[in-house]
Amino acid sequence: MMFESIKEEIKDFKKIVFVTGAGISQESGIPTFRGKDGLWRNYDAMKLATIDAFYEDPKLVWEWYNERRSNIFSASPNQGHIAIAELEKYTDVTILTQNIDGLHQKAGSSHVLELHGSIMKIKCTVCEFHDEIMTEFSEIPPLCKCGNILRPDVVWFGESLPQDVWKNAMILASQCDLMIIAGTSLVVSPANTLPIYAKQNNAVLIEINPEKTEMSSEMDLILRNTSANVLPEFVSLFKEN
Ligand code: APR
Repeated sequence: MMFESIKEEIKDFKKIVFVTGAGISQESGIPTFRGKDGLWRNYDAMKLATIDAFYEDPKLVWEWYNERRSNIFSASPNQGHIAIAELEKYTDVTILTQNIDGLHQKAGSSHVLELHGSIMKIKCTVCEFHDEIMTEFSEIPPLCKCGNILRPDVVWFGESLPQDVWKNAMILASQCDLMIIAGTSLVVSPANTLPIYAKQNNAVLIEINPEKTEMSSEMDLILRNTSANVLPEFVSLFKEN
């Protein structure tokens, strides 16, 4: 029983916040960035997800995003996403995700904050135009009606997070009584400060990750396993009560 140590207090958790990263989508066939199957092992991350890289070679960055978009559009939520969505039936659940793949929403989760934006969303580099595009782009880089280049509406290295989203994420992290950190290396800030806000509010911290993370030593419970294996068992604890 993976959750033996918290089985008794499980019904006391009133506000559960998940902080998720690429690892939770790994079992949906979407490669992570840094884990052992890391996508960016053979790419130089800084060459593809920065505003400078984009302006230097928008075609290259768009080719990479187009490849990721088609991979993501054909991906399905896995047992980890589905378990979190099911948990909403039993308690107050919020997901603060670094992922841009929309799989939490596809699994049925209704309260998801996308800290780094969404790969479905695009915006103009100049005018106010923005939209959600679920199809492939015929021309790369795609152009806005105003004639300027469109870009993925995601947060690149060196860019700030959407302020309203980040403010809400900090509030939710500091008000939860249980934070489950699943599928993230906790390398990238400011998302990796969310467990600190939770800990300051005496929340219980649980890490679900086959590998050690930057903050493993801060966790109350560590499950060295995959999210698709662990999360269905976590949800079953709520069914028993
Ligand atoms: N289940 C749970 N965790 C997994 C699984 C799995 N099946 N497979 C891999 N992992 C773990 C890895 O061990 C690693 O710790 O998921 C983590 C993925 O870490 P990263 O690849 O660094 O992804 P993430 O933490 O989401 O990166 C944060 O950095 O590249 C930017 O903006 C991008 O949102 C991303 C951010």
